[in-house]
Amino acid sequence: MNYHVLTLFPEMMEQGLHTSILGRAMDKGLIHLNAVDIRDYTEDKHRKVDDYPYGGGAGMVMQAEPVYRAWEAVKSRMGGKSARVIYVTPQGRVFDQSLAEELAREEELILLCGHYEGVDERVLEEIVTDYVSIGDYVLTGGELAAMVMIDAISRLVPGVLSNEVSAEFETFHEHLLEYPQYSRPEVWREKTVPPVLLSGNHDRIEDWRREQSFLRTRNRRPDLYTKYLEQEDLVSAGNKLSKKRLKMIIAEEMLLGDSHTERDWAEEFRELAEELGVKLVLASGSDPERFHRIFQAEGIERRELLVFAASAEGVLAARADKLRTVYFPADPGEQEPKGLVYYQKISDLLEGMAVIRRLCRG
Ligand code: ADE
Repeated sequence: MNYHVLTLFPEMMEQGLHTSILGRAMDKGLIHLNAVDIRDYTEDKHRKVDDYPYGGGAGMVMQAEPVYRAWEAVKSRMGGKSARVIYVTPQGRVFDQSLAEELAREEELILLCGHYEGVDERVLEEIVTDYVSIGDYVLTGGELAAMVMIDAISRLVPGVLSNEVSAEFETFHEHLLEYPQYSRPEVWREKTVPPVLLSGNHDRIEDWRREQSFLRTRNRRPDLYTKYLEQEDLVSAGNKLSKKRLKMIIAEEMLLGDSHTERDWAEEFRELAEELGVKLVLASGSDPERFHRIFQAEGIERRELLVFAASAEGVLAARADKLRTVYFPADPGEQEPKGLVYYQKISDLLEGMAVIRRLCRG
């Protein structure tokens, strides 16, 4: 990727971009920065590039001719190749991950950085193909905005990130924020890592992460979440969550049995199952085979089934049967079993149910 940046502050671009990951990408020749000093293209002996605005008003306007000549010089060096010309301006389309992905597919990009009160409209009409802003606030000039865009675009250029997969599932992928991450130590200031991440069970880890992404996006960025729901094929997203379409939920009786119907979520839970067309079966007793017997009798595959356990014992029984299990301790004081692969609190269940319901509504 070749970036040609038309700017009054080429050294700012050079210094800002020649470090860390982008610096290494430039050394490897994966990206190239051509910072063009617009002042080199003025005919004024004081290298002046701005003048007062016609009609009056505060500030100065960048003149058309130096900008045009800088652009012509870049074009002539590109040997007839076409290139998008992006004017970075708060008046543009707001830059986002999908625009970064689109621009990362280009071979050459020309970015024009304005200063003062703007650039003479006539040269913009002549050369600009895209007007792009990095957000609804006003910077002193376009350089920082151009650097933000170059950074976001460059990390999508193959080879720039050493770990190619890290750009694959990350924040904004499919309009979802990234799931929470943890590293060593396992216990930090008495805070533990969610046990599912220590389980080594990749299917369950993937399910947990996906659900965390939903919950986080819904809580922190409801605007993005709505976009996600609108744009995704909702049913297929629901299937992705459970890998295989969910056909049955087995809930331990003590979660939903008559003695507990006063709990609001029990009703929600029943509604959810009904809406999804998922069969809801209550399992009673403490026989370790109780889940097994139910799904075998129904001819349901393990991956089509979710167990909602109400006790640590229930979780362990379901795990012994290799069933995907969500734990909702009926007794809030109950400790989570050690090495539990999938764990959620009741408060999270309500969120999770709402997510699943909306996913399957489409
Ligand atoms: N120039 C000044 N403010 C800007 C913004 N928010 N985005 C892009 N370019 C700018």
